[in-house]
Amino acid sequence: MSVIAVIGAQWGDEGKGKIVDLLAEKARVVVRFSGGDNAGHTVINQYGEFGLHIIPSGIFYPGVTCIVGNGVVINPEILIGEISQLEQRGVDTGRLFISDRAHLIMPYHTLLDGLEEESRGGNAIGTTRKGIGPAFADKTARLGIRVGDLLEKEALLKRLRFILESKNAILTRVYGVKPLSVDEIYSRYCRYGELLAPRIRETVVMLSEALDRNEPIMLEGAQGALLDPDFGTYPYTTSSSPLAGGSCLGSGIGPKQVKSILGVVKAYCTRVGGGPMPTELTDETGDSIRELAHEYGTTTGRPRRCGWFDAVATRFSARVNSLTGIAITRLDVLDTLPRLKICTGYKLEGEVINYFPASITALSKCQPVYEELPGWQSATSHIR
Ligand code: IMO
Ligand code: MG
Repeated sequence: MSVIAVIGAQWGDEGKGKIVDLLAEKARVVVRFSGGDNAGHTVINQYGEFGLHIIPSGIFYPGVTCIVGNGVVINPEILIGEISQLEQRGVDTGRLFISDRAHLIMPYHTLLDGLEEESRGGNAIGTTRKGIGPAFADKTARLGIRVGDLLEKEALLKRLRFILESKNAILTRVYGVKPLSVDEIYSRYCRYGELLAPRIRETVVMLSEALDRNEPIMLEGAQGALLDPDFGTYPYTTSSSPLAGGSCLGSGIGPKQVKSILGVVKAYCTRVGGGPMPTELTDETGDSIRELAHEYGTTTGRPRRCGWFDAVATRFSARVNSLTGIAITRLDVLDTLPRLKICTGYKLEGEVINYFPASITALSKCQPVYEELPGWQSATSHIR
């Protein structure tokens, strides 16, 4: 296997958890490389059903080392909760490590995510309100606090004081809410640091040693290509790159090392949150796909918008990711449907185009051009 990246090739929720879980058995190291607890990966196995948000799905295999890479933004409270939930249900988490370079989601990030969404009114993005956007904004603005900082308490307090001054000014003067307390956050994050300390590592070194030993490594994606801030439906995107390129940046493995890039797609499309989705079905067929497949968010419980498979969007995704393979999930959801549609082009102002436009104004006007096929109308879920 050497290095394989598993990438969401639509708008997230493609069933990456299931594919990663299948492949993780053959891996020695699994690395999460982007996003944060906005992700929700459902894994069903002998321990039961789990909704993982930060911890790589490889955690269920005893011989697999799991790494939360530098490209992830970590809410330590959520991570610690996830670790104890796994431990309580008999899953050993002793091989879980966290990059010292990963950024932390701070209380002001989650607070601001909600306040910013409220203030956007009708232009709201429909974020998961987990603080993801504000945390990545601070990373880029060089105002972030990283996991490694939790181990340098004096410097942490100094930095927190400096950053909180401007955050509190925004909270009180722009949004008119109460300021946050340095002391409270400091003592809480010191406690998180103590709990996480044994797992905090220079993970780039761990990975390069694993590469030297020729161990199979899997880079586990979150979100999907069409939520990428560069290539997705901007500004209705997430804030870190879910692409194959992002798998290198978010793990510290160079691009030449990645041998296979597996794109995961559902046999239909779903999207949660705002932004254009050309094949969206707002009719009974859309509702019936949602109910058949139970398309409700793992992270926020929101009903997902459902529609037909979009080959234009998937081809775009295959290009920007250099996909070497595709895994199609949830074909069995379509088992009972008499007719199926696949979108092979978009009609835009009287012309048929076969590319995915950058402009959301254009994309919102695109009418899907469908190829229609008879359904197979028989059970497929037993097929292996
Ligand atoms: P997994 O890993 C589906 C969507 C949100 C919102 C937009 C921005 O389970 O596939 P954010 O909180 O990231 O700032 O929200 O991105 N979104 C996802 N949609 N699956 C996900 O993750 C998602 N993570 C974020 O709904 O539209
Ligand atoms: Mg999900």
